[in-house]
Amino acid sequence: MDKITVSTLKKYKQQGRKFAALTAYDASFAGIFAAEQVPVLLIGDSLGMVLQGGRDTLQVTTKQIAYHTRCVVAGAPNALVIADMPFMSYASPEQACNNAAELMRAGAQMVKLEGGDWLLNTVTMLTERSVPVCAHLGLTPQSVHVFGGYKVQGRGEQGQQLLEQARKLEQAGAAMLVLECVPQTLAKTISEALTIPVIGIGAGKDTDGQILVMHDILGISSGYIPKFAKNYLEPTGTIAAAVRAFVEEVGHGDFPSDEHSFD
Ligand code: KIV
Repeated sequence: MDKITVSTLKKYKQQGRKFAALTAYDASFAGIFAAEQVPVLLIGDSLGMVLQGGRDTLQVTTKQIAYHTRCVVAGAPNALVIADMPFMSYASPEQACNNAAELMRAGAQMVKLEGGDWLLNTVTMLTERSVPVCAHLGLTPQSVHVFGGYKVQGRGEQGQQLLEQARKLEQAGAAMLVLECVPQTLAKTISEALTIPVIGIGAGKDTDGQILVMHDILGISSGYIPKFAKNYLEPTGTIAAAVRAFVEEVGHGDFPSDEHSFD
């Protein structure tokens, strides 16, 4: 795989070429994902749940994300590697700069932050200081205790607010946007309204890219299986074939189907 950059993904968007993304936390899996042409790998703070066994992502620290970022970059040097900024690591713009620097030094090419209006200054500050930013709207898991659970966001009037926030984040300098658990019609509107690539998870088939937690495509679950998850290992039999099937289905626009999306 040739080196993937933000420009590569912007070009994919302009060409209408859908791309796959996965979370990754270590060099071995990252290597398999890259060999199967997954262009984007995210060291998600989901590691607090899938690696550490936590009930949510709030326990994760910047040092832990930096450690896993180094592992993933070692295994997949050509993927675009995005590192999640953990809960409270970007509560002020200054704190965000210091912690983003740690993640960029660990090898990330972009950092991801959850939130809308309150983050605009931080997004601009990071971007102006050469840290590419991926914004994250919709069901932002670090706010689970505000939402009162992992619930679909952006239904009804809230949809318009999310669209406006997405536009403002792009204007503030965000280079990419993750939309999580929003109605597919809203995700389509937002993806068409922005020039930056929009990656969906539980956001329907019309976003520019699709991301899943790697455990969800491999059928590794601790009980609860989200509606947007799809087990590709069961029908294919090997990890490499499962990843290949995910990449192909995303590329052809076959994943997610309505079964894995929200109205
Ligand atoms: O932490 C994570 O893995 C994420 C993805 C689910 C988008 O934020």
